[in-house]
Amino acid sequence: MDLFDDLHLQADAAPTPIAPGAVLLHGFARDGAPALLQAVESVLQQAPLRHLQTPGGYTMSVAMSNCGALGWVSSASGYRYSACDPPSNQPWPAMPACLLELAQRAASQAGYPLFAPDACLINEYVPGAKLSLHQDKDELDLRAPIVSLSLGLPAVFLFGTPSRKDRPQRYRLVHGDVVVWGGPSRLAYHGVNALADGEHALLGRRRLNLTFRCVGLKQ
Ligand code: SIN
Ligand code: FE2
Repeated sequence: MDLFDDLHLQADAAPTPIAPGAVLLHGFARDGAPALLQAVESVLQQAPLRHLQTPGGYTMSVAMSNCGALGWVSSASGYRYSACDPPSNQPWPAMPACLLELAQRAASQAGYPLFAPDACLINEYVPGAKLSLHQDKDELDLRAPIVSLSLGLPAVFLFGTPSRKDRPQRYRLVHGDVVVWGGPSRLAYHGVNALADGEHALLGRRRLNLTFRCVGLKQ
């Protein structure tokens, strides 16, 4: 089998159900990734990545930014969604149409039609950066799923259940993979192991992850 066949086999792998209401869509965004990446880079020019402080006084190893009507921010006073980027006090950049469309197609394929995210958190991981186990629970609308797009270096994604006591499973996420979790898994604990070093053809020594969320506009 030549390399070309091998790449296609990966992209066409059947979705992996990872928990009730949660699915890993292998290579879902791989073909469109260069255009998606260009859209992300233009967002980041307007709202640069930054390392936020946690309420516990730590600096996060993952650098973050946002696009969409609302953005997730963390500071000494807690976690929240904000309509403005705190340092500039400007609205977050609009969610690029190609990113919104991708998220909607992935949600629909995972069994969640009519997904209308109003927030997209952009995470950048460099080697060693990690995200400890947590639930995404700052959103008001828990009926909608989370849609997560991975670009760049591969990562080990941990995905458990809504109970912290359950040991999470490990999944390797590669460039172009999309994970969707909702319904009974909407509040599942998840995290990312420390990123291993490597070099990605499009992104170099980094991984970007975008999570699309329905916050509900009342924040
Ligand atoms: C997140 O939980 O916000 C990001 C998950 C990931 O980077 O894969
Ligand atoms: Fe999360």
